[in-house]
Amino acid sequence: MRKKLIAGNWKMNLNIEQSEKLTSLILEKLNEDIFNKTDVVLCPPFTSLFNVHTLIKNSKIKLGAQNIHYKDEGAYTGEISASMIKSVGCEFVILGHSERRQYFYETDETVNLKIKKALEFSLIPIVCVGETITERESGIHETVVENQVVNSLKDISPDQLKNIIFAYEPVWAIGTGHTATPIQANSMHRKIRTVIENLYSNDIANTIKILYGGSVNEKNSADLFSQPDIDGGLVGGASLKPDSFTEIILSA
Ligand code: PGA
Repeated sequence: MRKKLIAGNWKMNLNIEQSEKLTSLILEKLNEDIFNKTDVVLCPPFTSLFNVHTLIKNSKIKLGAQNIHYKDEGAYTGEISASMIKSVGCEFVILGHSERRQYFYETDETVNLKIKKALEFSLIPIVCVGETITERESGIHETVVENQVVNSLKDISPDQLKNIIFAYEPVWAIGTGHTATPIQANSMHRKIRTVIENLYSNDIANTIKILYGGSVNEKNSADLFSQPDIDGGLVGGASLKPDSFTEIILSA
């Protein structure tokens, strides 16, 4: 039985004060029992990681970053390393988000390097994959996602794969209010499991967590999370609203 996981991706939102306020509200609303069923991860911007960690470190909420560089250190102005986010208390890192691919030219190749670097520092990568609307309309969405999964897993061992989470985020559903239907989402999750089964084993394909992301809110989350292959959500916009976010967690 795969435990559900809900991750809040705050993107480039909230300064330190706003981040602390949101974290405190989420902490107030969540009862300890919830963590037996569901893991909760907050992914604030880099500048808020330390302060959010200070607030959640005695709770069961976990911390994640939104990106890392694939090098250990060096002359990469403006970048953040795996060691840096680890030292501020992160256990997770979102990698290959479609906004990173679209605006910052990330490729499957850099995502693969980043996954390896994250694993080296015992960080759990949440690897995002997903097709654009044009790709879906031309019927190549499964191939696009399959390639993203295969390429991002290049030279990753079965043991390493056990520490990776995937997030299926159709680009057309992110921040648009157009959620994939539970059937559409589950069918892509199934496809991802089949790809992993072919690359590794049936066992690993059944153990790996696959989250859904793209306009998840408190109204659609229960239906999405009740699908057999959907193990939780990567939530953007709704994770900035304490009431919506906690309702989404409860629905898992
Ligand atoms: P959204 O974002 O929930 O605002 O659509 C999800 C994501 O980009 O991770």
